Amino acid sequence: MQVTAAVTHSTGAPFILKTLDLDELRPDEVRVRMVATGVCHTDAVVRDQMIPTPLPAVLGHEGAGIVESIGSAVTTVRPGDHVVLSANSCGVCLKCLSGESAYCEDLFARNFGASRADGSTPLSFEDEQISSMFFGQSSFSSVSNVAERSIVRVDKDIDLSLVAPLGCGIQTGAGAVLNDLRPPAGSSIAVFGTGAVGSAALMAAAVSGCTRIIAIDILDSRLDIALALGATHVINSRTDDVTMRLQEITAGRGVDFVLDTTAIPRVLRTAVDNLAVRGTAAVVGSSRPGTEVHLEIGESLNRGWTFKTIIQGSSVPQLFIPALIELWKQGKFPFDRLIKKYSFKDINEAFEDAEKGLTIKPVLVY
Ligand SMILES: NC(=O)c1ccc[n+]([C@@H]2O[C@H](COP(=O)([O-])OP(=O)(O)OC[C@H]3O[C@@H](n4cnc5c(N)ncnc54)[C@H](O)[C@@H]3O)[C@@H](O)[C@H]2O)c1
Ligand SMILES: [Zn+2]
Ligand SMILES: [Zn+2]
Repeated sequence: MQVTAAVTHSTGAPFILKTLDLDELRPDEVRVRMVATGVCHTDAVVRDQMIPTPLPAVLGHEGAGIVESIGSAVTTVRPGDHVVLSANSCGVCLKCLSGESAYCEDLFARNFGASRADGSTPLSFEDEQISSMFFGQSSFSSVSNVAERSIVRVDKDIDLSLVAPLGCGIQTGAGAVLNDLRPPAGSSIAVFGTGAVGSAALMAAAVSGCTRIIAIDILDSRLDIALALGATHVINSRTDDVTMRLQEITAGRGVDFVLDTTAIPRVLRTAVDNLAVRGTAAVVGSSRPGTEVHLEIGESLNRGWTFKTIIQGSSVPQLFIPALIELWKQGKFPFDRLIKKYSFKDINEAFEDAEKGLTIKPVLVY
């Protein structure tokens, strides 16, 4: 069948809407008619080839839509079901078997490889292969053949254009806190960068009962929103001395948990230097392969601190996304405040607005 998709042709180039051919559904795939898709910063990272998915490609990895048909081996959904699409995983490696599909041993190939295991791609243009199956979905396409492992079924009364971004960005920030760091009630947390991922982390910290929730960004507009989402303190790192403020807020003890969404080495160093004894620093932001950060390990040895990286909020999407929807219904996780909707054809404007800091979470509606 023919579909309309936003194609990335070359490094950093604007998306171009094109009619492409979608091939036959494989036994373990689900054909989904997209209703909406979030735009994640990681789409821009791949468009700009900081992560080298082969181009031309159809990106997009926060899809939401309606199942049109299912492959012969699919058991988890039926035509007509409403679904949110998340990261792909193999389902059979040791990490997947132990409930850690976010760290699937085949993570890179299944999400950034943008082809099936046999090298074929669902999308093509006049016999030219177009990288697709990005995160098992390539949601910048009106219809996609989606890997069953990427599928999360949701209730039909939920607005799909609202829940689309749960598939990656929101899940990543919220899951980093609720699934991985698990801060105890009364603890302190600092979130560096309050875009979509950081904002979700702030809301999750409020759900966890953290009593000092510190948002750090370079944009006052984002920090105003952070306060509305549950931050107890905000720091503009362009105008304030971050170390001085963090020490003030924690009465000189340092912060129990820091989450870095910027992946800027000097920001990360400041974050780590302000950890409390036994504190944990986690990075979720993406940087170019080869990026290094220098950390002090002499004096800080006695402090028994932890450094870790976190993928997809260490979530099992099929468990965590319904939980986030439930928290939202109860008014405890107001992620809808981050969203601005755009028509799918305005995809380039949506990316520009995110880059300028005007929109926290763009959602494209088909
Ligand atoms: N680990 C994962 O599984 C995963 C999943 C999704 C996204 N990501 C990555 O997470 C990162 C954040 O994604 P996002 O969608 O929230 O991006 P975003 O661009 O919306 O947010 C980044 C924020 O950092 C702020 N910032 C920039 N420089 C800063 C500085 N020096 N100090 C403080 N704040 C600063 C920006 O103003 C912005 O608000 C991206 O790198 C993305 O690729 C990782
Ligand atoms: Zn696996
Ligand atoms: Zn993402």
